[in-house]
Amino acid sequence: MNAVDPTQTPHCILMMMSGSIACEKASGLISRLTELGHAVRVVCTASVFEFVSSDQLLALGAEQVHHDTFDPEAPMAHIDLSRWSDLMILCPATANSINRLAAGLADDMVSTTWIAGFGQNKPMLLVPAMNTLMLNYPATRMSLERMAEWGITVLPTASGSLACGETGEGRMLEVEQIQGAVMRALKTPQPKEPLTILITTGGTREYIDGVRYIGNLSTGRTGALLARHLSEAGHHVHCLSSAHAMTPERVDQVVRFDTFDELAAGLERALVSTQVDLVIQAAAISDFHVSGIDGADASQAHTADRDRKIDSGANMSIHLSPNPKLLSSLRAMSCNPDIRVVGFKLTQTLDLDERLAAVRRQFQDAGVDAVVHNDLNLISDGQHPFVLFDQNPQSAATSGHHCESVGELGERLLEWVASSVQPRDRSA
Ligand SMILES: Cc1cc2nc3c(=O)[nH]c(=O)nc-3n(C[C@H](O)[C@H](O)[C@H](O)COP(=O)(O)O)c2cc1C
Repeated sequence: MNAVDPTQTPHCILMMMSGSIACEKASGLISRLTELGHAVRVVCTASVFEFVSSDQLLALGAEQVHHDTFDPEAPMAHIDLSRWSDLMILCPATANSINRLAAGLADDMVSTTWIAGFGQNKPMLLVPAMNTLMLNYPATRMSLERMAEWGITVLPTASGSLACGETGEGRMLEVEQIQGAVMRALKTPQPKEPLTILITTGGTREYIDGVRYIGNLSTGRTGALLARHLSEAGHHVHCLSSAHAMTPERVDQVVRFDTFDELAAGLERALVSTQVDLVIQAAAISDFHVSGIDGADASQAHTADRDRKIDSGANMSIHLSPNPKLLSSLRAMSCNPDIRVVGFKLTQTLDLDERLAAVRRQFQDAGVDAVVHNDLNLISDGQHPFVLFDQNPQSAATSGHHCESVGELGERLLEWVASSVQPRDRSA
């Protein structure tokens, strides 16, 4: 039966496979995509043929199956296929192939084609499948992290029964979920008119003296990856990033801050001088500042003085006073009255109602247009899910958009941006 969807533009999809027990399951993606009218060509590592045959892949709808870099019939296939494709997906991705790609090796057809495709500004997706022990090997974790930092969409793994008979993390996602990620990546809208987006990333420090501070654990990773995602989608992205945070790559500008006061001043400068269409407050901002220090041994310090160091043996009390809420003042700072404001809300509770209540409070108190929620209980090594709320969740039935990774969050934000944020008339 022909299931071609007339509302879908046909795309050229390069499916790359490495040798996993999940090869047969993954090959179901070929028939799903071809049934939708997309052209699929396949590139395999040699070990894929331990699990499925070339004929099987062709029977499922693949136009071509390649595995030999030095095939005399197609000597430049690695370049030609990378240029032909609108999207490249490595599915399943073995520990071996993931680690080799992260190291930059190019000694088989998959790695050579992958490297040729990177840099052509097209979506690249990676779908890991392996035993929990292989997934948790530090090199594998680091390679996945590194690839995500390069802008590759690394899909999460599921937890469940594994082919080896064990139960745990590492199971490849179901084909429908992978197909959903492919579709989202393909329909990421290219902006007709790019937006100007300001993102804050990292965390503030509140100094006690010249060498000590109160800080937080923010690495700036989420904000940096998001910034890169939005920039690669064609928008103008400016970042205000804390001094020690991960550097956002491929963005228009990065201005550094250290303290709350520096961040507040940087935001005001940027929002007053530039017509920002969208501001995303991803930075972890200190709720308090050091308003006083007292105690007999505190070396006469009464305020947080960065020109002096309090004696190591000092006995002191530090007074903290609340900082103003920056998020709620961004709209008033901006020279664009139509600016859209996105806040981040981190909670630590297993209670869904409490999470929703926290999101609701941010909508009400800060007057934001969207909230990205994440919860400490759900964040673990390599896992960081988010929920994007593009309207105030008035009832528990409002579930928001669930995103398994920062890449997926970027895609969701782009869809929301495309549907709800209009670039300001620059001629005005
Ligand atoms: C039955 C069987 C199943 C395997 N399944 C996986 C798997 O799911 N994930 C993985 O990373 N490696 C798996 N391996 C190991 C890889 O096939 C092996 O590391 C191989 O060298 C990968 O090569 P490639 O990445 O070039 O395809 C499996 C091996 C066997 C024998």
